[in-house]
Amino acid sequence: MPEKVTKIGVLTSGGDSPGMNAAIRAVVRTGTYNGLEMFGIMRGYSGMIDDDIIPMQSRSVANIIQRGGTILKTARSKEFYTPEGRKTAYDNLKKRGINGLVVIGGDGSFKGAQRFSNEYDIPCIGLPGTIDKDIAGSDFTIGFDTAVNTAVEAIDKIRDTADAHDRLFIVEVMGRDAGYIALHSGIATGAENILIPETKTDIEELVSSLTEKEKRHKLVNLVVVAEGDEFGGANEIAKIVKGRLPNTDTRVCILGHIQRGGSPTCIDRLIASRMGYHAVESLITGRYNVMVGIMNNKMNYTPLDRAIKAKQRISREWLKIVKILAS
Ligand code: F6P
Repeated sequence: MPEKVTKIGVLTSGGDSPGMNAAIRAVVRTGTYNGLEMFGIMRGYSGMIDDDIIPMQSRSVANIIQRGGTILKTARSKEFYTPEGRKTAYDNLKKRGINGLVVIGGDGSFKGAQRFSNEYDIPCIGLPGTIDKDIAGSDFTIGFDTAVNTAVEAIDKIRDTADAHDRLFIVEVMGRDAGYIALHSGIATGAENILIPETKTDIEELVSSLTEKEKRHKLVNLVVVAEGDEFGGANEIAKIVKGRLPNTDTRVCILGHIQRGGSPTCIDRLIASRMGYHAVESLITGRYNVMVGIMNNKMNYTPLDRAIKAKQRISREWLKIVKILAS
């Protein structure tokens, strides 16, 4: 391990999430405030391998706190998973004297950071940047709040037209392995049913609950499904529902990548700023190879290897609340 971190590289990796720019800004400004040299690494680990690394000053991150996407761009680098790729990346950092790294991304990005920090004398700090909120060790991930608010706004609009036509809408939200966007947006929009990868989807129960509510003349119009649901998303669910309830006018809406873009909410800007600040503080004080999170409004530091393994669990309480409120 280096005695003292003096030059820090920052990168964004994996799927982008709103608030990544706010995090980059916080990292760069905290670093320059402390007299450190700061570098931006383009397109995640790919830029480390291709030597696409730029010096950054306080002014490099002006006017970005409100912008979605990431000014450093992002990528999923297969090459970084090879020892040769990591060696090239290391050499490129080393020749500039970069001796600390901040990785903003999800668990795939942390896997890369963990391997890299095990092999080389460059400590890494992870910041949870993902709309999926599927990382343990933090109550928040950068981008989730914006994504879920985008989904809520869209689903509210779908509800208007669903209601006008007495239609049932099956709405698909993002979440390849995680149901948090579906759960939160579904509760917030009063969905009848929420289908997520973390729980077993019982199609019989779904059909019978829709039938029973129809009989009671309860306005049934929204089912929210995560893309990673075991039945394969909204199209698949709709096929089954149409087969079983042929008289119900059913439509599908897939929200897709709009959930990844847009200006970050105030919450995402705040947590990105706070986490970015603490990422640099961690490197300065020698707290290495951890993911910086926030739990119960306090900073929480999870060793990278644990952050990779542990997934955030869906709370039983939420699942109970969904059932009761949709009755
Ligand atoms: O950012 C996470 C995520 O939104 C997943 O929920 C989704 O499956 C995935 O990214 C899709 O990303 P891409 O289209 O970039 O492969």
